[in-house]
Amino acid sequence: MKFLALVTEKNENGEIINSVQQLDESYLPEGEILVKVEWAGLNYKDGLCLSGGGGLVRNYPHVAGIDFAGSVISSTDNRYKQGDKVILTGWRVGEVSWGGYAELARVRADYLVPLPANMSTREAMIIGTAGFTAQLAISRLKENGLTKEMGEILVTGAGGGVGSIATMLLAKEGFTVAALTGREETKQALLDLGANLIIDRSELMKETKKILESERWAGVIDNVGGPMLGNILKSVKYGCGVAAIGLAGGANWNASIIPFIIRAVNLYGIDSVMVPFKKRQKIWQYLAQNFAQEKYAPLVSEVALKDLPKYAGKILKGEIMGRIIVQPKN
Ligand SMILES: NC(=O)c1ccc[n+]([C@@H]2O[C@H](COP(=O)([O-])OP(=O)(O)OC[C@H]3O[C@@H](n4cnc5c(N)ncnc54)[C@H](OP(=O)(O)O)[C@@H]3O)[C@@H](O)[C@H]2O)c1
Repeated sequence: MKFLALVTEKNENGEIINSVQQLDESYLPEGEILVKVEWAGLNYKDGLCLSGGGGLVRNYPHVAGIDFAGSVISSTDNRYKQGDKVILTGWRVGEVSWGGYAELARVRADYLVPLPANMSTREAMIIGTAGFTAQLAISRLKENGLTKEMGEILVTGAGGGVGSIATMLLAKEGFTVAALTGREETKQALLDLGANLIIDRSELMKETKKILESERWAGVIDNVGGPMLGNILKSVKYGCGVAAIGLAGGANWNASIIPFIIRAVNLYGIDSVMVPFKKRQKIWQYLAQNFAQEKYAPLVSEVALKDLPKYAGKILKGEIMGRIIVQPKN
């Protein structure tokens, strides 16, 4: 079977070239399940894979796309049969092995999650890795004692995929959400998603000299990392926690041990890639019930497969609002 794919190649000068090509099914990696990809998403990591950044892609030619949803064409695993609807996020698909920017994908059965009832494959990719990660982080904070009575939750990088979905999900549960953004154009959209207040990125960017600031945040969903994380830790309330998801603002910060030993602050690492099946399924079931597709619709853009490289550049510059989805076809 022939299929279309956005192929990422490296030329002899080391430059990355992306082009839509027709390939033969025999090019696909090994795996028990052949999937017809109906929808895929664009994430920060996809931006890196499509532009050769972050050292994520080891072998070229490559097909990127770290998340996709579609229907099973053929299966040699008894958990899935032809026609089943499935979701894939994580497991380094789209980085180490070929991913979702193609009409076909072949993956291991262990990597898949059945599409929840009452969710379309398009809806699944509006949520995508971003929404899955946002919910993982919220669940982690709640498992560690966060309740809405405890006060404000800060969401950083709130205009992006993870941040906007975290804002909406927290607001829907009745938390008081402070959405931090660096862009004017995202502010109203975040208020419409249910944010209670908007904080301009510049307010938390400057490193302060004090080792602790007044206690303010009952919880933090942090997509930015970098120096801002060091600042945020100084204002986390006694015994509360920060879910560290991303590094849109950098990987390093000047850390002090003081918030941890004076205020018993917790820093929770969030990884969406290696989550075991049972937990994955639970998070997707939760999202099926709580993700308000209609409310989130203004933040969804559909783009063509051939245009993804352009949007990859934009996501790395922090210029994408909400979620970008693609139907891998001509
Ligand atoms: N741990 C995991 O498993 C996991 C899973 C998914 C994503 N991630 C990571 O989480 C982060 C967010 O992912 P995403 O898909 O939501 O990406 P995204 O859509 O690009 O969102 C990132 C947001 O961060 C803000 N930002 C960008 N550059 C910044 C800078 N230099 N300083 C401060 N803020 C900046 C922007 O929001 P505003 O303009 O609103 O400020 C931007 O929209 C990425 O670092 C990604 O790699 C991790």
